[in-house]
Amino acid sequence: MKITPALQRRLEKAARDAAKNSYSPYSQFPVGASVLTESGKVFTGTNVENASYGLCNCAERTAIFSAVAAGQRVLKCVVVYTPTLRPTSPCGACRQVINEFGPKIPVIAICDGEERLETTLDMLLPGAFGPHNLEEGF
Ligand code: THU
Repeated sequence: MKITPALQRRLEKAARDAAKNSYSPYSQFPVGASVLTESGKVFTGTNVENASYGLCNCAERTAIFSAVAAGQRVLKCVVVYTPTLRPTSPCGACRQVINEFGPKIPVIAICDGEERLETTLDMLLPGAFGPHNLEEGF
């Protein structure tokens, strides 16, 4: 699946739109994410916080879990948007979850400023623990 400029724009708009549904009364830090799957479908997610703070779920994981719940296990790209001046890189937990379904995929972070981050998951999480570790046996 080639990520054309038009498709990238669509993913970026989807991430921006998803942030509008953020439930972040505790951090006041809205995040939106979109993921492109192997079949060309786009799934979105936002951060969903909880009065029990440890239960907060990040936008990226909401989007990925939504894709997996729809039977889409191969990711091709992740976009994360925050209404900040500089882009926000995915947290460690989200990097680990992205690794499960797209260990080398592009990760794009956009914001309300000019700056953007365009990297790959293996740059963000080198030497990742993943499914292969469990297949190696004892
Ligand atoms: N958050 C995300 O949604 N994605 C990230 O990669 C970083 C953090 C959310 C979690 C929490 O709701 C808020 O941002 C502040 O940490």
